[in-house]
Amino acid sequence: MDQELFAAAMSARQNAYAPYSKFAVGAAVRAIDGTVFTGCNIENASYGLSICAERVAIFTAISRGYFQLEVLCVVADTAEPLAPCGACRQVMLEFHIKEVWLMNCAGAYRKMKMTELLPVGFGPEVLEK
Ligand code: THU
Repeated sequence: MDQELFAAAMSARQNAYAPYSKFAVGAAVRAIDGTVFTGCNIENASYGLSICAERVAIFTAISRGYFQLEVLCVVADTAEPLAPCGACRQVMLEFHIKEVWLMNCAGAYRKMKMTELLPVGFGPEVLEK
């Protein structure tokens, strides 16, 4: 298990703004040079504007100039390790994430390859000439 990412995701989860779902999620992503960025879910009274912890972590990395990401960990207080939503899987594919640790707060995990999470995905290479 990736202890560094798990600890970072658990810490980020404490900042979740989830007054509507009451479902706090934390995420941490590592760039290829080892730098770690974190995110939590941030909801809105206009529900559709809410954003998942995974995308907050990824967009934070991108906003700091880190485009080559590698591994992501997502955690919530669930019975089974948390599976990312489809939108987040698509964003993970865009930024080259190769493997994802699905986790719960108790530390149960499932390590999955991006190709398992989103097989036959539509990625940026399709648009390259
Ligand atoms: N959520 C995440 O942050 N990540 C996931 O992988 C699943 C769902 C958030 C979105 C929303 O704020 C709450 O959890 C309930 O769906």
